[in-house]
Amino acid sequence: MTLKGKTAIVTGASRGIGLAIAKRLVADGAHVIITGRKQEALDEAIAGLGGRDNAMAVAGNAADPAHRASVVAAAVATYGSVDLLVNNTGINPIYGSLLDVDSAVAAKMVDTNVLATIAWVKACSDAWMRAHGGSVVNLSSVAGLSPSPGIGWYGATKAMLSRVTAELAVELAPAIRVNAVAPAVVKTRFAGALYEGREEKVAAAYPLKRLGTPEDVASLVWFLLSDEASWITGQTITIDGGLTLNGGITG
Ligand SMILES: NC(=O)c1ccc[n+]([C@@H]2O[C@H](COP(=O)([O-])OP(=O)(O)OC[C@H]3O[C@@H](n4cnc5c(N)ncnc54)[C@H](OP(=O)(O)O)[C@@H]3O)[C@@H](O)[C@H]2O)c1
Repeated sequence: MTLKGKTAIVTGASRGIGLAIAKRLVADGAHVIITGRKQEALDEAIAGLGGRDNAMAVAGNAADPAHRASVVAAAVATYGSVDLLVNNTGINPIYGSLLDVDSAVAAKMVDTNVLATIAWVKACSDAWMRAHGGSVVNLSSVAGLSPSPGIGWYGATKAMLSRVTAELAVELAPAIRVNAVAPAVVKTRFAGALYEGREEKVAAAYPLKRLGTPEDVASLVWFLLSDEASWITGQTITIDGGLTLNGGITG
């Protein structure tokens, strides 16, 4: 129970990687606030997390300043602190050539994948972390590490997120550690188009011969949030079944 008495916010956590992270943190003794846009999915997730004693949900869009303020206020009012933050929300509504990217959509992706992350860190820092300490993990992607045809703009926003992670780590040290994780394909609804119907073929490119699970990523995020990682900050840790060792470019 290394996280006993800590409070965590995990954004975009009604399913997928975010929900697995929330489960891992609750199992390790933390109180968790999860977010997402759809109340019904959040209610279902909270039931699976063991109810209000362990977790609560606040519905809203991660890119909405009023939503961020209400989540942080709820964390402090309900559980007394905001020690841990996982910026898990990320969007990718487009597939295709960079040359065809619509600039309004591209701006929305930067807003949600990058600028909202900075704003969440600021909100948690102002409310608690700057004075009391904290640990943050951002969800980047292997698509941010090398060219990823078809999801190039998504990859560019994730590359920016990794850089922002390093900048924040320097600005906020020593009170707050800020790290990122960069997964390859993890089996969630978000990544369905990348593997559904051809999982075995896709997994063959991975030295470890399987795609990731949300729980794989949750273990790494738990480690980086915890004091076990107290001398690590500003890093983006790749978690990819060895894919990038082969020069793989999907995820
Ligand atoms: N899966 C992969 O292969 C993979 C690989 C590398 C990186 N990642 C990154 O991992 C993160 C999580 O992805 P995932 O695969 O777990 O996705 P997922 O299964 O589709 O889950 C996404 C979660 O985020 C919520 N969400 C989406 N947009 C939101 C918004 N604007 N505001 C608040 N909540 C929002 C969704 O709920 P609602 O729809 O109800 O809002 C849902 O709870 C993302 O940052 C993604 O870029 C994923």
